[in-house]
Amino acid sequence: MAQLAVVVLAAGEGTRMRSAKPKVLHEIAGMPLIGHVLSTAFSVSADYVVTVLGHEKELIETHIKQSFPNTLIATQSATPGTGSAVEAGLAALPKSFRGDVVVLSGDVPLLDTGSIQELLELHRSGLNAATLISTVTSDPSGYGRILRSSESLMGIVEHKDASESELEITEVNAGVYVFDAEHLATALEKVGTKNSQGEKYLTDVVSLLLQDGQKAAAHPINDQWLVAGINDRKQLSDVAAVLNARIIAAWQLAGVTVVEPASTWIDITCQLGPDVTLEPSTRLRGLTKIGSGSIIGPDTTVTDSSIGKSVTVSRSQVSGAEIADNATVGPFAFIRPGTSLGADGKIGAFVEVKNSQIGQGAKVPHLSYVGDASIGQETNIGAGTIFANYDGVNKHRTTIGSFARTGSSNTFVAPVEIGDGAYTAAGATIRRSVESGALALNPAAQKNLAGWVLANRPGSDAAKAVEQDAVNNDME
Ligand code: UD1
Ligand code: CA
Repeated sequence: MAQLAVVVLAAGEGTRMRSAKPKVLHEIAGMPLIGHVLSTAFSVSADYVVTVLGHEKELIETHIKQSFPNTLIATQSATPGTGSAVEAGLAALPKSFRGDVVVLSGDVPLLDTGSIQELLELHRSGLNAATLISTVTSDPSGYGRILRSSESLMGIVEHKDASESELEITEVNAGVYVFDAEHLATALEKVGTKNSQGEKYLTDVVSLLLQDGQKAAAHPINDQWLVAGINDRKQLSDVAAVLNARIIAAWQLAGVTVVEPASTWIDITCQLGPDVTLEPSTRLRGLTKIGSGSIIGPDTTVTDSSIGKSVTVSRSQVSGAEIADNATVGPFAFIRPGTSLGADGKIGAFVEVKNSQIGQGAKVPHLSYVGDASIGQETNIGAGTIFANYDGVNKHRTTIGSFARTGSSNTFVAPVEIGDGAYTAAGATIRRSVESGALALNPAAQKNLAGWVLANRPGSDAAKAVEQDAVNNDME
């Protein structure tokens, strides 16, 4: 019974990125390039998936193991090049392995399962030793060119080794292959490093197999984006934009209104319900879920948050939060991790909330900071309230019961508790707990010093206004 292995190449330096971060850890649609490739690799139900690492091996391995613990890790030898990477991949397979080896590049993120299945079918039905995907592109720069003689595949020449006339060829190697494992191993032994880059090229295997009398074919596919390779940051943003457009189109077909696709970004890991509306300049990131009928944006970023049904979030930043059905957020709210807002609740304009649970129907409408608090259902927090949660060393919690009414410009000095149905007066600084049903107030008696302005600010505009006021009063 023929077996199937997928070898993912990710050992290269990615020098063209000019980045301290390894190329395959750069992200598009909220997932590192290697994550896109590995989820495709695991979707073809192979017996083994091997990732070949070298440059920044430990860092990449740590990332990969979190999401794909079943991948085998191989380490490339000192010899550079995709051929030497594949040799390392083969060495990680059991000695008894016989069958097909799919080779994918860690920097070709949009390749889909269907294209690999199709390639495998062509490979098997053609009894080929090697079958690869090619595509015809208007900008073949950087890619290996497909050499053909009267339609038949003859080999691949790398851009840097190509002659003037070969550079004119627009059919390019996608870097996606199926090989027969034994033929691949034998051919790789013969590949040298005599080329402009001093590398052991995987692409040289193709002509070697043909010379050896084996069959090899290149299968052109029409959708060049599926096989677009990322070598630099220009290509990174180009491919990211294409993927984003495809993600948006899929959500539109699933019943999501996207008012301005060009300014909307949706990570591949997000989930949206029907009749969601995304207003312009909205970003949905990470494990965000949006329930049906919700309106998000404009100018809003939601990260790793769960938004219920018929919620409105406008001009706000929300991360690590849970917002229940029919709640409203913003404009200009900053909601930080650990926040939950109950159904029908409100977090209004210029409000920051962190690590706080706000109950059903409760409202924090204006200009407040809510940190480390629990607020019960149907409670209203007055405008301009500060939850003073930090004593300079430790964070403390404030607990406010249900149906409470707190006045404007309160400061809750945590730890402190406010009972159900309690009131606090405007301007109160609450340092001691308030029992259920009480009104808390701590007025400093107000003093008015009559005549102070004329005595202390003579000639000022304020003093003139006072004098004018006196004249007006005399005339009455
Ligand atoms: C490669 C192909 C080229 C093809 C293009 C498609 C070769 C020699 N060339 O060129 O024909 O058109 O992909 O995108 O194969 N890698 C290693 N070890 C290495 C070098 C690279 O694992 O020593 C990995 C890289 O991490 C990357 C992949 O192989 O994921 C491709 O390497 P890259 O250097 O980008 O090859 P290209 O020049 O793009
Ligand atoms: Ca590449």
